[in-house]
Amino acid sequence: MTLDRPVLGTPVAYPEQDMNTESLLLISIAVGALAGAGFSYLVFTASRQRATASQLSSWQVPEGVVSLLELLEIPALIVDPSHNVMAASPLAYSLGFVSQGRLTTPELVQLVDNLRDREDSLVGDFEVARGPFGDASLSISATASHYGVRFALLLVVDKTEFRRLDEVRRDFVANISHELKTPIGAVGLLAEAIEQAADDPSMVKHFASRLQTEGQRLAGITREIIELSRLQAEGALKSFEKVSIDDIVAQAIDRNRVVATTKNVDVIAGGEPHTFVFGDFDSLVVAVDNLISNALQYSPNNSRIGVGVSRQRDCIDIAVTDQGIGMTAEEAARVFERFYRTDQARSRTTGGTGLGLSIVKHTIQNHGGEVRVWSRPDNGSTFTIRLPEATEYPYGETP
Ligand SMILES: Nc1ncnc2c1ncn2[C@@H]1O[C@H](COP(=O)(O)OP(=O)(O)OP(=O)(O)O)[C@@H](O)[C@H]1O
Ligand SMILES: [Mg+2]
Repeated sequence: MTLDRPVLGTPVAYPEQDMNTESLLLISIAVGALAGAGFSYLVFTASRQRATASQLSSWQVPEGVVSLLELLEIPALIVDPSHNVMAASPLAYSLGFVSQGRLTTPELVQLVDNLRDREDSLVGDFEVARGPFGDASLSISATASHYGVRFALLLVVDKTEFRRLDEVRRDFVANISHELKTPIGAVGLLAEAIEQAADDPSMVKHFASRLQTEGQRLAGITREIIELSRLQAEGALKSFEKVSIDDIVAQAIDRNRVVATTKNVDVIAGGEPHTFVFGDFDSLVVAVDNLISNALQYSPNNSRIGVGVSRQRDCIDIAVTDQGIGMTAEEAARVFERFYRTDQARSRTTGGTGLGLSIVKHTIQNHGGEVRVWSRPDNGSTFTIRLPEATEYPYGETP
């Protein structure tokens, strides 16, 4: 049968075709309904599964525990046997123990694995890499315990800072014992020498004067140690006020007047007058005084020392320049370390302890500033203290 094209507006009857269309329509409705039902079923099942999973996980790691971990100020994690992190404290993330939801630190992974065959907790001290990049490391102490039947709870103590402070302290104690040994030994020997020279007044006088020098040296070391530990203590220099750089420089120069006169060294102050910073007056005087006394100590007689003040944007620079022995770049890089003295300085005089510049550095850092050195062997040195400028005038006065 040939099917003519129906002419528009002319109804044509095609009984066989009508039947086919109808069944097709019915079939497609049925298929559509089935597919829809199937899809709804899938969605329903998936959402049920999700609900079950969340019920399960909330049962396994209750909300309260998750919130508790979020508040903890130590690294803490709950992990499943495949090392998936179920919950963790913020520090566990920031110290790099977790990556893409998994525990990644090999030492901690191992600790969790070792826990599996045990009933009690496991403790371990480790040196671990801090995150996936760089060579920074952390000293940690970790405790792994069972949490429920499947999970492990990891509590970590970050000991990196304790360890560092401990090293600094040990270093300091070793250095200080070494520095104190010399004058203490000398005091003993000189006392013996005085006893033996009791019949010779001139020798007694000589040894007594040397005893006095060693005594002064011991007093100096003690003073510097006290000053240094005060500066390193937390919250040092709380009493900040607006202080005049002119006054600080004048007082620091004044403290060195006797030595300068003895060595016939001119100490010349100059530069920008009427500058102010916020700080602790006495500590700043000690800092500038240390720079001037170094300049004097490491300069020849009849030379000149300049103390120049300048304004650099929002900062004040105090530069102490001498024409002394100077130092190499390697030495300059180390002069702010406690007890560091260049060989040249060591052989020239036994007077110093190598604490003066550490005190300067700590004082200036506590004032939000910095101290730098420029130096060349036999060409002198310039030490520059830079401090943030206090912009208003003191006590409402106009200078
Ligand atoms: N102006 C300077 N010129 C040359 N070397 C210097 C100068 N200032 C410091 N140094 C070097 O830096 C070292 C450390 O200085 P620092 O002031 O800390 O200790 P010190 O002067 O040896 O002893 P003290 O604790 O009594 O000040 C000095 O021993 C010296 O070698
Ligand atoms: Mg010094």
